[in-house]
Amino acid sequence: MAQSPVSPPAARRARRWWNRPWIIPLAVLLGAFVVWKVPPWLNFDPQRSPIPMNPEVPLHYAMMTLHIGFGVITFVTVCLQLWPWLRARHPAIHRYSGRLYVFAGMIPSALLSLGLILAGPLTVFGQIGTAIWAGLSIFTTVMGFVRVRQRRFAEHRRWMLYSFAMATNVITSRAVAYFVLYLPGIGPDIISFTRFQVEGPWLSWMINLALVHWWLRRTDRKRGRRRPGLGRAVPGPAQVG
Ligand code: HEM
Repeated sequence: MAQSPVSPPAARRARRWWNRPWIIPLAVLLGAFVVWKVPPWLNFDPQRSPIPMNPEVPLHYAMMTLHIGFGVITFVTVCLQLWPWLRARHPAIHRYSGRLYVFAGMIPSALLSLGLILAGPLTVFGQIGTAIWAGLSIFTTVMGFVRVRQRRFAEHRRWMLYSFAMATNVITSRAVAYFVLYLPGIGPDIISFTRFQVEGPWLSWMINLALVHWWLRRTDRKRGRRRPGLGRAVPGPAQVG
């Protein structure tokens, strides 16, 4: 009797939730953040800024609105970049939207955040953590771009997934902040301090990095790579997800 090309355990694996169209929940999550956070900035009026502006930094509001604009481009393009169907069927779109992600999304957004770090209400502790986050955002994104130009697709995939971890820190930090609200024995002072100085600047990007690292190890094992990250070229962008 002819054997089925897909063995039953493999078929079961293929049905697991992480093989399902996770791009939809991701797009909904990032879209919800944009719908929640962006409209209050669309009046372009510093007097009605959703968060207090530093009167000693005249460019604070402009930097913030530009940062958020580039952040929105980051979110739209990161969904396009991670969407396996689009990569497989329309590699040209993957290339163009990837350039937008790098040069009109992550890098300008993270560079502007360096100004926001100095203008905003963060303590030195929070400033250092956020500066590391911004630095890692730029570094991982540049590495992802350089590796794809070198056609080292396996490494491109790794760096871009780390870049994704950095980009979505804005979501994780809110989730962690809400989680902290419900921890027993935490008073309002600790809550308001940690929300701005610990969760976003430190904790949440570490959580994101750890999750992506775990995901990469898992999928590397599955792909049978003995030495991940050493540049085994895979055939093309359709296979880097
Ligand atoms: C690339 C890494 C990023 C870094 C390092 C970063 C850093 C920052 C910093 C330092 C602030 C100012 C906080 C304050 O003064 O209170 C800020 C605000 C903000 N960022 Fe980012 N950010 C990044 C990416 C993004 C992305 C991708 C978005 C997506 C839209 C985004 C959306 C916002 C929003 C909406 C605010 C205003 C604060 C609020 O309304 O809660 N950021 N960010």
